[in-house]
Amino acid sequence: LSAGPLSGKRVLVTSGPTHEPIDPVRYIANRSSGAQGTAIAAALAALGAEVVFVSGPADVPPPAGVTVVPVETANEMLAAVQDALPVDAAVFAAAVADWRVTSSSASKIKKQNGQLPVLEFAENPDILATVSQLETGRPGLVVGFAAETDDVIAHATAKRARKQCDWIVANDVRPETGIMGGAENAVILIREDGIEEWPRLNKAEVAKRLAMRIADKLEET
Ligand code: C5P
Repeated sequence: LSAGPLSGKRVLVTSGPTHEPIDPVRYIANRSSGAQGTAIAAALAALGAEVVFVSGPADVPPPAGVTVVPVETANEMLAAVQDALPVDAAVFAAAVADWRVTSSSASKIKKQNGQLPVLEFAENPDILATVSQLETGRPGLVVGFAAETDDVIAHATAKRARKQCDWIVANDVRPETGIMGGAENAVILIREDGIEEWPRLNKAEVAKRLAMRIADKLEET
């Protein structure tokens, strides 16, 4: 039995990319190692939470001590998230593909002399917005991420309002920052009551701080 500020609390974390099949051997995806989401799940578990970790195909293995629900597509991720509810808090760190291929093929698309395939897309469900806007069974605290390349605070603040989550963890993912796929992260936590800019930290340290903020918030309520 783990004591800790989050013992007795159930927390959901989404992580990694989603893969949207084009055919059995090809897919489209977002760039995501799953490192930050994995670190967050580990940090929450270390504070005693019961963690449901819904992860797309990530580069890093899932942490120990959590319930892992592996998924591939955004639709599968949404279904797994809905199955995991109710939870006390939910952290949406996954890089979900915005679109899926509606014209995906059951057999491998063959290369044929100069004829190019045409892909049709449909919009994927927004999992964070769906959960944030639940009328019944909404988690007490919903945390989203905003990976931005410009005007980080403005875009992330707008995203928080649009999706109706409680907090947004915003970061600057321009390639020159080295954050995507790297060991460190520089984040800005946007809450209802203000903005905290954190220094550039190891992803494990970012995860620990976030887990502590979540524990403090759940203690208040
Ligand atoms: O709109 P954008 O993709 O930038 O929003 C990022 C946030 O929304 C992240 O927390 C991500 O996990 C979540 N998201 C989601 N489902 C989607 C798209 C994004 O849960 N289809």
